[in-house]
Amino acid sequence: MRVLLAGASGAIGTRLVSQLVDRGHEVIGTSRSPDRAERLHALGAEPIVLDLLDPRAVRTAVFDTKPDAIIHQATALAGLRDFRHFDRSFAQTNRLRTDGTDALLAAAQQARVGRLVAQSFANHRYARQGGPVKTEQDPLDPSPVPTMRETEAAMAYLDQAVTDAGGIALRYGNFYGDPDDGLVQAVRSRSFPIVGDGGGVWSFLHLDDAAAATVLALERGAAGIYNVVDDEPAPTRVWLPELARIVGAKPPQRFPRWLARLFAGQAPVVMATESRGASNAKAKRELGWTLRYPSWREGFVDAYT
Ligand SMILES: NC(=O)c1ccc[n+]([C@@H]2O[C@H](COP(=O)([O-])OP(=O)(O)OC[C@H]3O[C@@H](n4cnc5c(N)ncnc54)[C@H](OP(=O)(O)O)[C@@H]3O)[C@@H](O)[C@H]2O)c1
Repeated sequence: MRVLLAGASGAIGTRLVSQLVDRGHEVIGTSRSPDRAERLHALGAEPIVLDLLDPRAVRTAVFDTKPDAIIHQATALAGLRDFRHFDRSFAQTNRLRTDGTDALLAAAQQARVGRLVAQSFANHRYARQGGPVKTEQDPLDPSPVPTMRETEAAMAYLDQAVTDAGGIALRYGNFYGDPDDGLVQAVRSRSFPIVGDGGGVWSFLHLDDAAAATVLALERGAAGIYNVVDDEPAPTRVWLPELARIVGAKPPQRFPRWLARLFAGQAPVVMATESRGASNAKAKRELGWTLRYPSWREGFVDAYT
């Protein structure tokens, strides 16, 4: 297939370019920077400069490059630090998930592009009730933390708009595998504590496995939503000390909920204590996806030691 990949220069995008090229696809990869475009060329993509927030440019790019499929992996999450003002920190990503998605969908419809796959997210979104691991059928949190409302709404918007248009939204777990991973840096500096009972469940995913699932979704996925996560959703009290041990950091500090809330705000507390993880059964069953790193336990070791 001829694939237009928005966000080709990013942490998942670069891995995706390589895997798509390996599978025989032709990739047109976007970046806003000519320097990063050079790197895309070296990876085997045909680079183009594109700002997803410029709908006219998006339309032109789609008509000029004539793809069979579009993949949306554009986010602005690198260097994220301030989780107290969650929506403010995610504002640009939220625009990419709403306005950026709209621009791609409009252009895809006009140019009759048949397939669209977009990045969504699984963690911290499912209702904080019932079992620890949720499927795509389970309800989303009806009352998100106030500081996260816009971010949750942007992801819900993307899921709905993409699937309404016959596309695929991939709800990924927390990515890891990037050498500059912000979470790993926080664990190394002991600034990521276990909060309360550490009962919030997180799903993880190695970037290589994320790219592999994305290629399969492109090739054989049906319209709809897929959780794309590893096999071992785990409570914070389990994965956090293990990650600290693996990267050679001191064990994480422990904060009561009230103290963590004082320091970091409500969103990180809820993520650390109430979040639910996600099940990958549908992605494995329907996409024939096998993970190179079925558990973050071996993935963290491979990526960070
Ligand atoms: N994705 C997640 O859910 C998530 C969540 C938390 C933390 N992280 C971590 O954050 C780090 C990377 O974050 P990231 O994936 O956002 O950054 P990234 O690796 O830099 O990827 C972002 C991609 O989006 C593109 N992009 C950004 N704004 C754009 C725009 N206006 N128009 C077109 N393309 C645009 C960037 O392209 P150009 O800049 O080249 O134009 C780049 O290709 C990783 O360590 C990851 O693990 C990710």
